[in-house]
Amino acid sequence: MIRLAKPWIGEDEQRAVAAVLESGQLVQGALVERFEHAIAALLGRRHAVAVSSGTTALQLSLKALQVGPGDEVLCPALSWPSPAHAVRVAGAKVRFVDVDPDEWNSTAEALREARNGNTRTAIVIDQFGNPSRAEQIREALGALPIIEDAACALGSRFASGPCGSLGKVSCLSFHPRKILTTGEGGMCLTDEDDVAERLRMLRNHGQLGGEFVVAAGNSRMTEIAAALGLAQLQRLDEIVSRRRELAALYRAALGGEMGLQSTPNGSESNYQTFGVVLPQGHDRNAVCKKLRERGVEAGLLSFAIHKLGSFAGNEASLPMAEHIAARGMALPLYPQMRNAEVDEVVRALRGVLNE
Ligand SMILES: Cc1ncc(COP(=O)(O)O)c(C=O)c1O
Repeated sequence: MIRLAKPWIGEDEQRAVAAVLESGQLVQGALVERFEHAIAALLGRRHAVAVSSGTTALQLSLKALQVGPGDEVLCPALSWPSPAHAVRVAGAKVRFVDVDPDEWNSTAEALREARNGNTRTAIVIDQFGNPSRAEQIREALGALPIIEDAACALGSRFASGPCGSLGKVSCLSFHPRKILTTGEGGMCLTDEDDVAERLRMLRNHGQLGGEFVVAAGNSRMTEIAAALGLAQLQRLDEIVSRRRELAALYRAALGGEMGLQSTPNGSESNYQTFGVVLPQGHDRNAVCKKLRERGVEAGLLSFAIHKLGSFAGNEASLPMAEHIAARGMALPLYPQMRNAEVDEVVRALRGVLNE
């Protein structure tokens, strides 16, 4: 079976984790701090706050920006449900925004149009690692705070700088499907001292200076996870460049035959996920099933979040998100995949579509 995704875990990662286990210092400590400094430096941010997942990073970001009941938050309709669920968990209302048919991210125009007097913040997603049009969005939204969901986008670049540099808070995920993994893990990045202080307080039972000042949970990262993340970080350039090479092979083979995600001029994707939108007349789930029978693990690409049971009753019609969610498929891509395996996937896919 050619797997859909596979993290690249080598001896360095195993040694780093074993050393933590031997040390007996397992929860947030020196390694978490080193991992935070390394990511902050990489993305040119003043603060990085490591947490237990990308979802937690989004939840704490909304809390740190004091988003709550009565507020509305703009959120792209095509994604994993985490960003929209995080808004709900904060007690605020999600206003879903459709996505661009080619780039699969919400545009500056769509975000500007969806904004109203109750809008407190906009979540901007670099979906599948494809950079949003950051400069246009910043200009369109003016002083409105942005939470950048860069869960998939470590190693991607806007024309103006790295993904993870757009938001008042930017959020990363280190889930095994992401560019680097810590098992489960996430991070918030910000340049604002007071926001960073609130994030640190919120991840650690609401403690500030040894006092419990608000009621909050435990969202800390472990030393085991940080050791894994630091070892993974050594591979980042290699991982991203190999993903780009593999994606280029797919693009050369499949462009013109089906819908592919396009990247804004001057930006670079890390190809965290390689998605295709199947041509008319094909049932995506049936295609996935047949590909599996041919030894290729393909999967559903993403969700039209407003159509999920967790948003039952939402009447929004967002045709592009719905179209891509219905016909989108993720193809295998991971750094250790061989070029010949891309050819096999392409052959299998053509075979199934021509049956
Ligand atoms: C765009 C986006 N945001 C947030 C998340 C949540 O990250 P995590 O799985 O680390 O909670 C994901 C995960 O797939 C995602 O794709």
